[in-house]
Amino acid sequence: MGSLIEVKNVTRDFQTPGGKVSVLKGITCTIQPDTMCILRGKSGSGKTTLLNIIGALDDPSSGQILIDGKSSHSMNAIARENMRRRQMGFVFQSVSLIPSMNAIQNVEFAMRMAGIKEDMDKRAAEVLSIVGLSNRMTHMPQEMSGGEQQRVAIARAIAHHPRIILADEPTAELDSGMATEVTRLFKQISEEEHVTIIMTTHDVGLMGAGDQLIELKDGRIEGSGEDV
Ligand SMILES: Nc1ncnc2c1ncn2[C@@H]1O[C@H](COP(=O)(O)OP(=O)(O)O)[C@@H](O)[C@H]1O
Ligand SMILES: [Mg+2]
Repeated sequence: MGSLIEVKNVTRDFQTPGGKVSVLKGITCTIQPDTMCILRGKSGSGKTTLLNIIGALDDPSSGQILIDGKSSHSMNAIARENMRRRQMGFVFQSVSLIPSMNAIQNVEFAMRMAGIKEDMDKRAAEVLSIVGLSNRMTHMPQEMSGGEQQRVAIARAIAHHPRIILADEPTAELDSGMATEVTRLFKQISEEEHVTIIMTTHDVGLMGAGDQLIELKDGRIEGSGEDV
């Protein structure tokens, strides 16, 4: 089962040469296990900052994140790294597949990095089939469209059975048809693979695609609601 994520009064300030900048100004929200949450906001609203804190890549200045009731920010560096590697999967705006490896090799490489040793080829084929690329398994990245490459990146992110997927503007470089398709795929994966997904976007057209919408504006939650 995916994880329950609780964000409690999180702030994040950055020290800059021009003084302190408050980027997150007190964020509180809860994301239920096995659901997909869309985190929407304009460029500069704080989406990446919040996602990095949830993914334990960064620390809040105050407040806390609880994952299944546990605070990742009080763990030591090794425990955090292990949690990130085993329980989380990341998808980014720019797809970074290894150009010299085909689709299945890219997925298997990521599984090795996550410490998986058994049945790699079977699971790699399975996740590529989940993302609709059964007929592209031996294609090289340069032989695939942007949307297909992003789907390989999604297969790679779910292969090690993470409980949480954090996807930072994964559709920003895709045309609107492909962006909708990739977003639907995330929703399907949250249900079928039992993963909790947070996807950020600046695109208002994708707002309704998840189970939950959180809108960020200047570091605050503007409105949040659940659509069924
Ligand atoms: N390391 C940093 N130092 C200073 N300011 C930062 C840093 N990271 C992000 N910011 C600022 O925080 C704001 C929000 O950034 P970000 O979270 O990347 O927004 P988004 O992902 O919504 O576009 C921006 O104004 C950005 O310049
Ligand atoms: Mg961003």
